[in-house]
Amino acid sequence: MNIFSSNVAYFLPGGNYPPVAICKNSFTIGIVWIIAIFDRFCYIWIMTEFTRTPFPYAGCKYNLLEELDKVIPAGDTLIDMFGGSGVVAVNMAYKFKKVIYNDIMEPLVFMHRNMVVDSLETILQNARDLSSKIPEKYAELRGIYNHQVEILKQMHHNEGWQEIGYRFFGLMLSCTNNLVRFNKKGGFNQTCGKRQLTDPKVIEITAWKQKLTDIPKETHTSIMFNNCSYEAYGNMDDGTVVYADPPYSNTEAGYNGGWSVEDDVKLARFIMDHMRYKWIVSSCAKDGNTTKLVEILRASGAFDERRIDYTYKASKKTKESKTEEILLVSK
Ligand SMILES: C[S@@+](CC[C@H](N)C(=O)[O-])C[C@H]1O[C@@H](n2cnc3c(N)ncnc32)[C@H](O)[C@@H]1O
Repeated sequence: MNIFSSNVAYFLPGGNYPPVAICKNSFTIGIVWIIAIFDRFCYIWIMTEFTRTPFPYAGCKYNLLEELDKVIPAGDTLIDMFGGSGVVAVNMAYKFKKVIYNDIMEPLVFMHRNMVVDSLETILQNARDLSSKIPEKYAELRGIYNHQVEILKQMHHNEGWQEIGYRFFGLMLSCTNNLVRFNKKGGFNQTCGKRQLTDPKVIEITAWKQKLTDIPKETHTSIMFNNCSYEAYGNMDDGTVVYADPPYSNTEAGYNGGWSVEDDVKLARFIMDHMRYKWIVSSCAKDGNTTKLVEILRASGAFDERRIDYTYKASKKTKESKTEEILLVSK
């Protein structure tokens, strides 16, 4: 964890300070203290770093975490209503007693649950077995995945989803640009990216698993991974903090799961009907055009707005477009 890990014990609370005790002259003591302070600084810096999600996911907010950390207040409960990669729920957990990650997409939620319940060895073994550079193997996996998802959706019970969660992970690790894409029927249709589990990805998975293990121990926060549509959260306590990052109605349908302008309108109505929660809403302006969601919430006058400039490029083939991330924070 610490780049000077062998020194850490000396400078942590309860550690001892033998270097100082054995130094005879004040110059050496000075140097030792400078190293000590630098080491302590590095330790704090590393501990406060956000954890990168191992799930490459369109719309992942890893790069926005610093901004989000400023506007998400501490409280009892956080709902990450459109949780996706889980990077917000997991990294903001330190501020809450209870965190609810939610997403409508079953394979994604079961993949997250696998990370909680399975051992690191099992997770890595599945990632290794299921990710593949070979187009034929990838096509076979995608075919099985799409077929099983269709069947399980009709069965309305939880059996079989754990396996699907791992298949989804395998597809994510192997597909083009690691960017998931769906067709109109919800089938996974991204092409083979001729990639598989890499060493950096193993490091990310290991760090993610460690973070999930540490959260309940270090901050006593309970974190759960739910699979509902957002309307299920109409009866939470007043003051519940909600982060809402829905798919963007102004992005390509293959990446946004078919989220439409009508969906923006419905969500805006839900938000306005539940202003007893503290809302942090993410959306975007693409080449100057905002989503309907932003238009409605902005017009209500009930939100403060922050804009974060950055240029987004979905893949090597797509044109670069000027995108501004918009954060709306209820007053
Ligand atoms: C922009 S992504 C969220 C990205 C996430 N904040 C992150 O950092 O990875 C939007 C997510 O909303 C989910 N979603 C779409 N419709 C939903 C609904 N009605 N209720 C809950 N989640 C939904 C999608 O499956 C997708 O994962």
